[in-house]
Amino acid sequence: MPGFLLAIETSCDETAVAVCERNGQIVVSEVASQIELHAPYGGVVPELASRNHNLDLRPLIQKTLDKAGVSIEQILAVAATSGPGLASSLLVGDTTAKAIALGLGKPFVSINHMEGHLLSPFIGSPHGVRQNVSLIVSGGHTLLILVKDVGEYQLLGTTKDDAAGEAFDKVGKMLDLPYPGGPEIDKRSQSGDPGFYDFPRSMMDSGDYDFSFSGLKTSAYYLLGKLPSPIPESTIDDICASFQAAVVEVLVEKLFSAAEKYDANLVTVSGGVSCNSGLRQAVEDKSKDCGIPAILAGTGYSTDNAAMIAYAAAMRLEAGFPPSSLNADIDPNLALA
Ligand code: KG4
Ligand code: ZN
Repeated sequence: MPGFLLAIETSCDETAVAVCERNGQIVVSEVASQIELHAPYGGVVPELASRNHNLDLRPLIQKTLDKAGVSIEQILAVAATSGPGLASSLLVGDTTAKAIALGLGKPFVSINHMEGHLLSPFIGSPHGVRQNVSLIVSGGHTLLILVKDVGEYQLLGTTKDDAAGEAFDKVGKMLDLPYPGGPEIDKRSQSGDPGFYDFPRSMMDSGDYDFSFSGLKTSAYYLLGKLPSPIPESTIDDICASFQAAVVEVLVEKLFSAAEKYDANLVTVSGGVSCNSGLRQAVEDKSKDCGIPAILAGTGYSTDNAAMIAYAAAMRLEAGFPPSSLNADIDPNLALA
């Protein structure tokens, strides 16, 4: 009888459920986004997020199983994100997954959300997870990781202050763009001039693999103070394009220089900001220049989703890692490496 894994992701503001085969092939991945709910507040409201995970999760599990044509008896293991994230949100997915696993008498697998992002570029890859230098860029994290194998990760660098996605969202807010700022800035950049303003490329020459994005906020703040109000729409496009170019340049330079230093013949990029069209183009261009292949997380697997949690659980079980204890707690600050 074929067996499947059921995975739940509720670390922040997306309620997500996925079913995959035991080899990690995704069968169905469903996401119930709460973006519209949080938009009036300009950011995620934890209480609203957890309340809505509670409302949405059970019907979403049923919908995912139905779409997959998989019955609950065919589930071999149940996975959930155990951190990092919002405690009250993590608890909903974690306890639901544990309850299902307990009820079925099947293993429970707790997954680090960042490991989900980290391995997501390999979803659907015929070769499985390979050694690579990985850039994870999300709303809460900016990490450069040397991936030696599944579960063997070495942290090369991280942000000293704001995460890349956080910088996009904060500058978007300053420009009065709809929430979240990242996709809006991306959209507006398409018609803007990246050379309009020279935003700082912080820590570009620091000689390490750390990042700093908080200076961009300050720089944007002073720039906006100098412009006439209201700022013409075309100037907003130019600011977006200039800001995006600065973030992308630092990310891409550090990613490829780390790959060269650590002799990796593959780079991967994942997390919500990996949707960014400027970043995707720059990674592809640099990959061609240096001859280092790049795999970017696929559509549907960049922003938060449960397919990446299902895939990470499948890869961990395949690599021989034991299932998790039902007593394992969530950890809002869970580290990856
Ligand atoms: O990975 P994710 O869904 O959630 C976290 O784990 O944080 O990432 C969300 C982040 C937000 O900051 C959002 O603005 C950003 O990803 N993002 C983008 C784009 N799409 C989403 N940033 C830049 N360009 C985009 N197209
Ligand atoms: Zn995420």
